[in-house]
Amino acid sequence: MDRSLLIHVAVLLGLTALAVSAAPAAEPAPDRQAALVHMVRQDCGSCHGMRLAGGLGPDLLPARLADLPDEFLVATILHGRPGTAMPGWQRFVDEDEAGWIVARLKTGFPELP
Ligand code: HEC
Repeated sequence: MDRSLLIHVAVLLGLTALAVSAAPAAEPAPDRQAALVHMVRQDCGSCHGMRLAGGLGPDLLPARLADLPDEFLVATILHGRPGTAMPGWQRFVDEDEAGWIVARLKTGFPELP
């Protein structure tokens, strides 16, 4: 392979990587969305209240979450808050799923079917 071809391939690979990282977060599949709604209403609800209106943990309602940055809330869900009762959920949800949960919490979390 000559040098200019190598550079060409490297640039193309770089552009592909950029395009992938700039893509919007993937939406979980419908089945997975239903499972996430269950998890939030039941597992998260055990501390944040069945209506997510607060309990041991603060309420997770749109009015209060509106001013908090998405990345901060996603990090809280993935890693928890050390020194508080808020556990990390990294083993159960990935970053896109945590982002999906945050977006839903901010707009009014879906009810259980
Ligand atoms: C064992 C109790 C418990 C469970 C279960 C729990 N949380 Fe929490 N969560 C807390 C507490 C306590 C805090 C407040 C931490 C602090 O003092 O900063 C919190 C904070 C948060 C925050 C940040 C709110 C803010 O105002 O900064 C978010 C978002 C959150 N939890 C989401 C979730 C989600 C989503 C789940 C389920 C996947 C969940 N929590 C499950 C106890 C819990």
